[in-house]
Amino acid sequence: MCGIVGYIGSKQAPSILMEGLSKLEYRGYDSAGIAVHDGTKINLLKAQGKLVNLAKMLENNQIQGKAGIGHTRWATHGAPSDINSHPHMSEDRMIAVVHNGIIENYMEIKEELSAKGYRFVSETDTETVAHLMDYYYKQGHGFLESVFMVLERIEGAYALGIICKDYPDTLIAARKNCPLVIGKGQGENFIASDIPAILHRTREVYFLNDNEVAVIKKDSIDIFDRDKNKVDRDIFHVNWDIDAAEKGGYDHFMLKEINEQPKIVQDVLSIRMKEDEDEINLEGISLRKDDLKNIDRIYIVACGTAYHAGLVGKYLIERIARIPVVADVASEFRYKDPILDERTLLIVVSQSGETADTLEALRIAKRNKARVLAIVNAVGSSIAREADDVFYILAGPEISVASTKAFTAQVVAMELICLHISMETGKMTKAEFSAARAELNSLPGRISEVIQKCGEESKLAEKYINSKNVFYIGRGLDYLISMEGSLKLKEIAYLHSEAYAAGELKHGPIAMIEDSTLVIAMLTQEELFEKTLSNIKEVKARGAKVIAIALNGNDSIKSQVDDVIYVPRSGWMTAPIIANVTTQLFAYYVAKALGTDIDQPRNLAKSVTVE
Ligand code: F6R
Repeated sequence: MCGIVGYIGSKQAPSILMEGLSKLEYRGYDSAGIAVHDGTKINLLKAQGKLVNLAKMLENNQIQGKAGIGHTRWATHGAPSDINSHPHMSEDRMIAVVHNGIIENYMEIKEELSAKGYRFVSETDTETVAHLMDYYYKQGHGFLESVFMVLERIEGAYALGIICKDYPDTLIAARKNCPLVIGKGQGENFIASDIPAILHRTREVYFLNDNEVAVIKKDSIDIFDRDKNKVDRDIFHVNWDIDAAEKGGYDHFMLKEINEQPKIVQDVLSIRMKEDEDEINLEGISLRKDDLKNIDRIYIVACGTAYHAGLVGKYLIERIARIPVVADVASEFRYKDPILDERTLLIVVSQSGETADTLEALRIAKRNKARVLAIVNAVGSSIAREADDVFYILAGPEISVASTKAFTAQVVAMELICLHISMETGKMTKAEFSAARAELNSLPGRISEVIQKCGEESKLAEKYINSKNVFYIGRGLDYLISMEGSLKLKEIAYLHSEAYAAGELKHGPIAMIEDSTLVIAMLTQEELFEKTLSNIKEVKARGAKVIAIALNGNDSIKSQVDDVIYVPRSGWMTAPIIANVTTQLFAYYVAKALGTDIDQPRNLAKSVTVE
């Protein structure tokens, strides 16, 4: 949510900033801007719309300089417009600021500064920071001291990049509850919201912690805590491939990421399960028999797609390990005074590891002495660093705003954790464990099969492109996967779709079914097949068109529905993961046929670092 990049060194900053922003555009894409220090003054360029607009502007206005900050925006305060774009500057261009997050008390500060004669031109909260910096600075406090004073005053969440006209050799960064990394180069240094923005330039990064401030020059990086003490920080070497953050010949990141799923699943399985061992290798994660004895309540908390993975986790842990689990969306959990103590295990699930609500849920749990296990993709992210234990899903950078590969890997992580708990608590026999392991091991091959035979999804996407309302239905795990399928279609194809427990339809939503309403019925749970089939008949009787997603060999379904997409036959635990790949592909091809912006759907952004 909003991307920040900054550079200081001996090269020309504009192209480096633009390169960084192009890698961060998935975080926000309604406007972009850069501010560059040319040694004597700060030059500013900003443009509404995608980065390409800013790039065109830059072609016509060649600004130069060896230090600068850039920003790609996802609007929170004020509509997308040139004027609301970042960077924001003080009136006499002394200070330029880029910001990710929300300054909650900005109205109060704005009123105070307006009374002092400061003139605000934008509707943003960020402009307050530029003017407040200017105010303290003009009172005679130095650049760094003014930053500390601003941080004392502002409330909310922020990652900030700040430059000052009087300090052409200095870039200051600060963070609280929003991600920020500092890249260390040779005679040049960087800041960025996310590693891909600077990976072409350096693999050595420092993660800035909350309430820390970094003073960055071309040959030095000094990090200070809130009490202005210098802190030592270990450098982190990024070992993943640059290609992982590139499209690699695919039309869209989403399609590339769908295609990566077999390998990701294979990798995580090979680390966590050994052929000759009757246990899951959860090395370093405190979920042994003795730890579990001390747990009497489990929550799984997450947002969006990650929440759907959490729901699968709840279903599995309750059904197999026989432990009650509460699953909740983080934005609700954090405000309901949840019952938490040292006997609680909170499992948070997050691709980015930076989602504001999920991070806050973790912090509330920790304040109440609960144990926190995080299932995370982004290595070194806030959630990963603050949790007691981390299960990294190792899916590599997910650039498409609509999550696909992370979801699959999160569900696999949930399955592994569930098997582990079940074995530790004696709820599963060795024979059952071996069967489950074999089922999991067959997943990569079966997902590959779905991806290779994607012709059906593409054909049906064209056929049903004019659907106005879409219902995804299923029972048991199929229902949970329906929720994810429906979310994908909404996100990238902008089609109204709902997911319903198939048995729940007649309690209200069936009123919406009319001629040609599209119903996508998930049928991977064989014990529930007949029940869902009855619900299919109910919607068919009311004029719906039905696509069934069914297991290979289920010929009887053909005569009951309009179309069938067959998926490889698999056990009840893994079949929904395979079927979900079908819904990913279906959403992708509908969006493609409709010509939407698949990787950067409207109004969305990756990594939601505001509430
Ligand atoms: C949907 C999607 C979002 C995220 C949600 C949580 O495709 O990506 O719903 O799942 O914003 O994000 P993370 O997993 O980063 O906490």
